Amino acid sequence: MMPGLECPASCPFVEAQRPHSGFPVGQVRRVAAYDRDQDVDETKRNVLKLLAVAGIVGAGAGGLVGGTLQYIQPPMIGISSYPKTQLIDVDGSPLTVAKVESEYNVTTSDLYLFDYPLQNEPNFLLNLAPANGSAPSSTNPGAWNVPQGIGTHGSIVAYSAICQHLGCPAPAISYYPPGTCTKTFPTPASPTQPFYIHCSCHGSTYDPANAAYNLTGPAIYPLPLTVLVSDDDGNIYATGSEGQPVKGHLSTLTGDYGVGTTSQLAKESPVILCSFPT
Ligand code: FES
Repeated sequence: MMPGLECPASCPFVEAQRPHSGFPVGQVRRVAAYDRDQDVDETKRNVLKLLAVAGIVGAGAGGLVGGTLQYIQPPMIGISSYPKTQLIDVDGSPLTVAKVESEYNVTTSDLYLFDYPLQNEPNFLLNLAPANGSAPSSTNPGAWNVPQGIGTHGSIVAYSAICQHLGCPAPAISYYPPGTCTKTFPTPASPTQPFYIHCSCHGSTYDPANAAYNLTGPAIYPLPLTVLVSDDDGNIYATGSEGQPVKGHLSTLTGDYGVGTTSQLAKESPVILCSFPT
């Protein structure tokens, strides 16, 4: 198991609690590379042990368990539809397009997270525009006109910050700005794209400039895309989600209580692991 992260134990239960990184914001936390195959083998062994125990208990308890389970299962909580939720900046003021475009860009390393559509369901808020304001190119990293992007150049996007492999939440899954690692990926936008979203738990990588599509496994689904809109004053709202349900939930609308009409950004430091599946 990878040292320094609680992710493997907490991954399937992200809706129950989101671990806090516990170190000062503004710092990049780098974690050492680890033996991914060994980690997967250990996970398999634990699953087999659980299945063996479940089999013994099931054989002993028989119909008694089946007859009583229906009375001890907690009720499924959730919401019936996607709310229109206004995003609130870290300082408590309404988050606007102008603010995001002036303060954040593709090089921003701190994570800006907001819960949506349920509590304890973090999402990345990203502005992928190049830092110098010029059009992106092979020598000027960044992206304009990304799918569902808003703002002057369609560069502001949001994605679920819960990995689609086994559900590790941010900051175990983090945004990596250009230059964070030497690794680059061929993407529709660039043959050597130097920025991506990467999960330290088992190495899944996603393309934030292309609907969070998968660049490396083991995850096979893109991160759910959170739909953003802005009003005439530039205020930003989350209004829905596209793609597969958030990992660990039957649907993106079930598993916790709704966030309501506002959701405030939280600033966290990323966890960085420059180790990628081959
Ligand atoms: S939880 Fe396994 S790669 Fe993210």
